[in-house]
Amino acid sequence: MPMLEIRDLNTFYGHIHALKGISLDVDKGEVVTLIGSNGAGKSTTLKTISGLLNPKTGSITFNGQKINGTPAHKVAGMGVAQSPEGRRIFPRMTVLENLEMGAFSHGKADPADIERVFSLFPRLKERINQKAGTMSGGEQQMVAMGRALMARPTLLLLDEPSMGLSPIMVETIFGIIEDIHKQGTTVLLVEQNALMALAVASRGYVIQTGKIVLADSAKALMQNDMVRKAYLGEE
Ligand SMILES: Nc1ncnc2c1ncn2[C@@H]1O[C@H](COP(=O)(O)OP(=O)(O)OP(=O)(O)O)[C@@H](O)[C@H]1O
Ligand SMILES: [Mg+2]
Repeated sequence: MPMLEIRDLNTFYGHIHALKGISLDVDKGEVVTLIGSNGAGKSTTLKTISGLLNPKTGSITFNGQKINGTPAHKVAGMGVAQSPEGRRIFPRMTVLENLEMGAFSHGKADPADIERVFSLFPRLKERINQKAGTMSGGEQQMVAMGRALMARPTLLLLDEPSMGLSPIMVETIFGIIEDIHKQGTTVLLVEQNALMALAVASRGYVIQTGKIVLADSAKALMQNDMVRKAYLGEE
């Protein structure tokens, strides 16, 4: 049984049919990536999984339990955490306060969880009392990911962690995604940076205008002509 099993999901924004029959699986222990261009439906997929959006039809099963229609805070309590697109940190709060906010589903933040985040992101420990809004884009991405980890997720949903970052910071962030995976967290990674995403993932899905058009191993996708042309920038 996959950890996350999505079948024939249809999500609408009013009359806009954003997800048109999405099906995908994530097994425990995997890093799976969902690749697609602007407006394809990547964020909508993650928001539907985390309970921020309610699908019209279809099912989402997490560890054998149907979760579509479950409110977002309950899905979070079941072990699904999302690091949203554009970070969405609390800019006036310090790094530490942002991390503490991520522990809301457990009540008070556990010092051991904060230490775990600091061991993954030493930069955050150095900046513990800095207001998050004054940090660099890459550091803010670290705050967003660290905050998500404070909920002790077994499934981490990452929405475009590389967005707007320098190549070096992209390398850093992807290295940390690998560390998080090695520590036992399952990851569903949404990216436009297909090259980096396929390098850390074992499998991937390609989404176009609300439909999955390809599903394969990361290796096979990297060699796929359509993927190379559309997402790896090759002629
Ligand atoms: N709040 C909303 N109201 C109406 N339409 C929306 C809303 N959010 C997204 N959409 C539409 O749903 C479709 C999918 O959007 P989504 O944000 O999931 O794309 P995406 O793949 O995450 O794109 P990007 O890479 O730009 O973040 C788009 O056509 C978008 O315009
Ligand atoms: Mg998006």
